[in-house]
Amino acid sequence: SLFGNKAKDVFKNIDSILILAAGTSYYAGLTAKYWFESIAKIPTAIEISSEYRYRDSVPNLNQLVISISQSGETLDTIEALKHAKKIGHKKTLAICNVQESAIVRASSLVFYTRAGIEIGVASTKAFTTQITVLSLLALHLGMVKGSLSRSEYQKHLAELESIPDKVSEILKQEKLIKEVASSFNETSNCIYLGRGYNFPVALEGALKLKEISYIHAEGYPAAEMKHGPIALIDEQMPVVVIATKKGHYDKVVSNIQEIKSRKGRIIAVVSEGDVRVKELADYCIEVPESLECFTPILTTIPLQLLSYYIAVQR
Ligand code: BG6
Repeated sequence: SLFGNKAKDVFKNIDSILILAAGTSYYAGLTAKYWFESIAKIPTAIEISSEYRYRDSVPNLNQLVISISQSGETLDTIEALKHAKKIGHKKTLAICNVQESAIVRASSLVFYTRAGIEIGVASTKAFTTQITVLSLLALHLGMVKGSLSRSEYQKHLAELESIPDKVSEILKQEKLIKEVASSFNETSNCIYLGRGYNFPVALEGALKLKEISYIHAEGYPAAEMKHGPIALIDEQMPVVVIATKKGHYDKVVSNIQEIKSRKGRIIAVVSEGDVRVKELADYCIEVPESLECFTPILTTIPLQLLSYYIAVQR
């Protein structure tokens, strides 16, 4: 199978998944949690490596433990995996970008992301390939568990095949994204908002801004913003909102209206041809439509580019 011959035995009769990761890899894992439950119908828990390794948790030995790590050498994730094995876990899979790294050697299965060497500390192409690989795993497990029909499986695979061309479409907006970046020159704080599948993307976008341009940024679930952070919104606080067509679009539009009423500057990632958000936002970066579950693969790209151009300009 796609995941190596031993995969059949390891994947057989797993009843749930536990994801261990840090930083950007954790956000890839959070995206995958949504897929493992919505596509493969497998209950999925996710833990920050550095918390899990010291926590007194309760193991479920029919769980597939997935460690996600670009380098395969992040000590917190290595120790988290060791801890999982110490308390009895046997079914382990590494999603990794470096052959034969520590996490790969400590796992019974590995699925390489093949992103090429990730030079920068901030993980970008590694993140994109991590979530692509994890979406394939969700589809595969959906078939193994019988929770996904062959036709649904084929439909999702066909859409995945179209993603690279859709990403190329996004990259053509380089000029617009550079212009958006120039509006961040005096910015010292920023909020990223997303819902559903795009909530982990908001977290990842905020981390990119912190890591690459040294601006304080916080990712938040869009609806949660009214329970606190909305008090911070003013002309000095730009808000990046992921507001693609599918996935609670109407509710995100009302979140945008709330921000507008507080004179927040709005940068929106929208679906191609969007009209309603265009009337409200200061900037709109368009992404092509896709299956709702795969929008994260597309909506992350503008946020990676935005952080890059802001950093270059600062
Ligand atoms: C952090 C980096 O130190 O490690 C993040 O700043 C990275 O960018 C995180 O995502 C996890 O690294 P890895 O190699 O385990 O994916």
